[in-house]
This record gives sequence, structure tokens and C-alpha cells, in this order.
Amino acid sequence: MPTRYLIANWKMQLTDSESLKLTEQISRLLPAVPTTDIRVETVLCPTQTALDVVSGAARDAGISVGAQNVFWEDKGAYTGEISPLNLKDLGCDYCIVGHSERRTFLNESDEMVQRKVAALLRHNINPIICVGETRAEREAGKRDAVIIKQVQAALAEGGSRPTGNQHIIIAYEPVWVIGTGQAVSPTDAAAVHHIIRDMLREMYSVDEVEKNCFVIYGGSVNVTNLSAFLQEDVIEGALVGGASLQADEFIRLAELMST
Ligand code: 13P
Repeated sequence: MPTRYLIANWKMQLTDSESLKLTEQISRLLPAVPTTDIRVETVLCPTQTALDVVSGAARDAGISVGAQNVFWEDKGAYTGEISPLNLKDLGCDYCIVGHSERRTFLNESDEMVQRKVAALLRHNINPIICVGETRAEREAGKRDAVIIKQVQAALAEGGSRPTGNQHIIIAYEPVWVIGTGQAVSPTDAAAVHHIIRDMLREMYSVDEVEKNCFVIYGGSVNVTNLSAFLQEDVIEGALVGGASLQADEFIRLAELMST
């Protein structure tokens, strides 16, 4: 059965009580979405302080939970950071790394992303690795070079690899369309997905790529454009910001994802 990912990135948009309320609404509505021959893995990524309550409310509805950040050491004098061990305790099976907002505002580098991915895999937490070019990079014709560099670094050129049932999810998020309501065209996104998939094939075995790796699109995904992205076989799901903040809209995305 093919699997698609529907991942909500709530960024820093909600208080803990708002996150809980939204999780409860989604948990109530999601089981009513008709099942098809496509398995949709739904992941909610709330702000760190809400992870505990969101995990509790999501569990029974078969919804997974992801963090938005992690530190690469297990323990130590790293004030303000959160260990993969903490994420495990909080019920996280996923964690976003290398989001462009962290790369921009917190100077998260390719090297940091690489260390975080390795730490997550060490603790059996599936990384959701964000890659994407800025508008300036695209206009300078550097889109593909940026993607290749970010993917290579994040996976340590194949040195970090999935084991067992671990999933590595790479989200192509063109930085310049995030939060604009104006996504790139599905053909454009698919071209980048093919580049990423080819890279994965060079790093891992055919089996690992098929079973353990997913490439998804993010950047102004909504109920109007999601189906067009999914027409491209190479796009295996979506990482959604704004459109994941209303239960009804998110459920509609879940329906579209499974058709
Ligand atoms: P939007 O869906 O709001 O464009 O955000 C995308 C994103 O950054 C998800 O990580």
C-alpha cells in the first residue's frame, strides 16, 4: 500500500491550549475520512511546549507527533536546547530539521542539520529534512545546486542512513513561496523531487529508497492546489504551514491526500 505524508508545521502560531484544542478537533474528525488504498501518515508538529499534550490527544486517533527542532547531543551543558531523549519521552516519532526559518533566523547551518539528522536516527526518530532555495538563489540559476548541497550535507553524503523501519523525509520547500499563498507549479516541484530522488538512489540501495525514503513538497499548500501536486507521482505528500491551522481545512487536505 503506498504511503503519503501529511505533516502539519504549526511553527510558533499557537498557544499550548490552542494546540490542544486543534489536536482534539483533528482527532475527532480524522477517523471519519474514508480509507482508500493509500495510507496517509498524519503528523502534527506543534511548538515544543505543547508536545506533551498534543501527543496525549493525538495518540488514540492514530496521529503521529513531531518536534520542530532538536539538539544533536543527548545530554550536557546546552542551555535552552532539547535532547532527542526528551523528544522520545514526549512521544515524538518525527522531528523537523533545517527549516528555512531556522536557517534564516537562527543560523542553522548545513553542518548543524547533518548532526541533528544523525542524532535523530540514532534515537529512532524520523527526520523531516527541509531543503529549498531562496528567491535570490533561484534568480541566479542556483536552485539545483542549493538543493544538492543541502541534501548531501543533511545525509552526510549517505553516511547517515535509515535502518529498520526508519523513514527519512525530505521536504522540498522553496523558501520564497512559504506563507505567500503562491506555490510553485507542480511541474517545477516535481523536477526538484526527481533530483532529490536521484541523489537518494546514489546514496542508498533501491530497497532503502523505496521503503525508507520519502520526498514531499511544502510551501503554500492548500485545499485548492494539493491535488495538482499529488498528480505528480514523485511527490509523496506535503508539509503544510498556514493551511494546517484550521481543523476543517486540514481534514480536507487529509481527504485529498488519500484520493
Ligand atoms: P505555508 O504552508 O504556510 O506556506 O508554510 C510552509 C512551511 O513552511 C511548512 O514547513
